[in-house]
Amino acid sequence: MSFRPKRPLRPITRISIFGLGYVGLCTAVCFAHKGFSVIGVDVDLRRIKAINEGKAPIYEPSLDELLRRSVGLKMLWCTDDYEYALRTSDVSFITVGTPSQRNGALTLKYAKAAAKNIGKSLRTNRSYHLVVIKSTVLPGTTENVIKPLIEEFSGKKCGSTYDVCFNPEFLRQGSAIEDVLNPDRIIIGEFTKKSGDFLECLYRECYGPRLPPVIRTRPSTAELIKCANNAFLAMKISFANTIANICERIADVDVVAVTKAIGLDARIGSLFLDAGLGYGGSCFPKDVRGLIYISEKLRYSPILLRAVEKVNSLQPHRIVEMARTLLGSLQGKRVAILGLAFKPNTDDVRDSASIRVAKEFLDKKAKVIVYDPMATKNARKLLENKVKYASSAIECIDGVDCCVIATEWPEFRALRRKDFLCCMRTPTLIDARRIYDPDEFGGKLKFWATGLAKGA
Ligand code: UDX
Repeated sequence: MSFRPKRPLRPITRISIFGLGYVGLCTAVCFAHKGFSVIGVDVDLRRIKAINEGKAPIYEPSLDELLRRSVGLKMLWCTDDYEYALRTSDVSFITVGTPSQRNGALTLKYAKAAAKNIGKSLRTNRSYHLVVIKSTVLPGTTENVIKPLIEEFSGKKCGSTYDVCFNPEFLRQGSAIEDVLNPDRIIIGEFTKKSGDFLECLYRECYGPRLPPVIRTRPSTAELIKCANNAFLAMKISFANTIANICERIADVDVVAVTKAIGLDARIGSLFLDAGLGYGGSCFPKDVRGLIYISEKLRYSPILLRAVEKVNSLQPHRIVEMARTLLGSLQGKRVAILGLAFKPNTDDVRDSASIRVAKEFLDKKAKVIVYDPMATKNARKLLENKVKYASSAIECIDGVDCCVIATEWPEFRALRRKDFLCCMRTPTLIDARRIYDPDEFGGKLKFWATGLAKGA
C-alpha cells in the first residue's frame, strides 16, 4: 500500500485515540496515513511500547506496514498520559472495548474510565474539544452515561467548550485498514450542530472528494444504527443457514445455487448469504445479544432476533451431528479441524464457531487435532492441551477419520481430493464453509457439505 501523507493546507487537526485495540489502532494508523497528527492512549504499557517501536500487537493485513511508516514519520505515537494527549489534540476518539455480559448488556467500565479521564483533562482545557465515542454502545448510552460522566468530571456542560458525538465504526477484521480507508458511509450522532459540523469537516479533510455519504442524526439513533446494521447482517447469515438446513433434506438441492440466485435480487443482495458454521467474532454475537437485551428492557419481545441467535448457536452442533451420521460413534475417532479463527485473515478466535465444534467433538470423546495458519496461539488459551496442534494442513489430516473445514482460509482451498484420500485413515470430509466443488470431491471420498443434499 502506498504511503503518501497528504498534509492539508490548513493547520493539521490533531487527534487523540483512547484505546488501541482493533478499532483504535486501525483508526489511528489510517488517520496518520491521511496526514493527521495522531496520539494514541492506552493503559497497557507493553502495547504502547510495541506500537511506538512500529510493531503491531494484532494481525491485520497492511497494518504492520502502515504502522511502521506512521511511527517512522512521527505522525503517530502512543502514551499512557491521557491528560497530555487531550491537551495536545483537538478531537479525542474513545475506542475502548465494550465486551458483552452474560445478560447481553455491554460492559461499560473501560468507556466510563476513558470518559472520566477525558472529563478531568477537560477541566483545565481552554480551547474547543470534541469527544467522539466510537466504541459500540447500546442506544441511550452516550446521552445517559458518557455525557453525564464527562460533565461531572470536567465541571462543564457539554456544548460549552467541548462537545460529545457518537460515531460508529463498521470495519471488518481481516480487512480493517481497507474498510477504514473506504467506508460506505459515515454516521454522526450529535447533540449540537457545531459538533456535527466539526466532525464532518474532519472526515471531509480525511477523505477529500471520496467522502462517502454522511448521515447526521441524534446520538441514540446513531447507536441503534450500529446495532441494527450488524443484527441485519447476522439475520442474513442465519437465514442462509436455515435454507441450508432445509436443502440438506431435499434430494439434489444445493444451498450455494439457492443463495446465489436469490442474492441477484437487488432487494436481497448477494453479500452475507454464505451458509456455514454461523457467525462469530467480537461484533455480531455481541450486537445481536445487545439488541435483544435492550428490547427486553423496553418490554418488547424481539422474536426475530432470538431466532437469529438460536439458529446460529445450533449450526456448529449440526456439523458434529453430520460427522456422527457419517462415522457412527465419535468415541475414539480422530477428527481434524482445519481453521480456528472466526473467519479468514485474522488470528481472532473470539466466539469462533470452530472452537465450539472442537469442544463438542471433545465432549463426544473424539480425538481432535487442529490447524490454523494464524490463530493457533490464541486458540491454545481456549483449547489448552485437550487437542493436538498441527503445523500444517497436511500434518493435521494425516491418519484422521474425519476432517472438518471450519474456516475458509485460502490455503485450504488449494487442497485437492487426492490430498484427503492419501493422508486420511478413513477419508471423510465435511466442508462446513463450502470451499470445495462437490462434483470434484465425491467418489471414494465420503464428502458432505453444509446445505448440500445428503448423498450428493
Ligand atoms: C462485523 C461487521 O461486518 C462490521 O461491520 C462490524 O464493524 C464488526 O462486525 P467482523 O466481525 O470483522 O465484522 O466480520 P464479518 O466479515 O462481518 O463476519 C462475521 C462473521 O460472520 C464471521 O464469523 C463470518 O464467518 C460469518 N459470515 C459472514 C458467515 O457465516 N456468512 C457470511 O455470508 C458472512
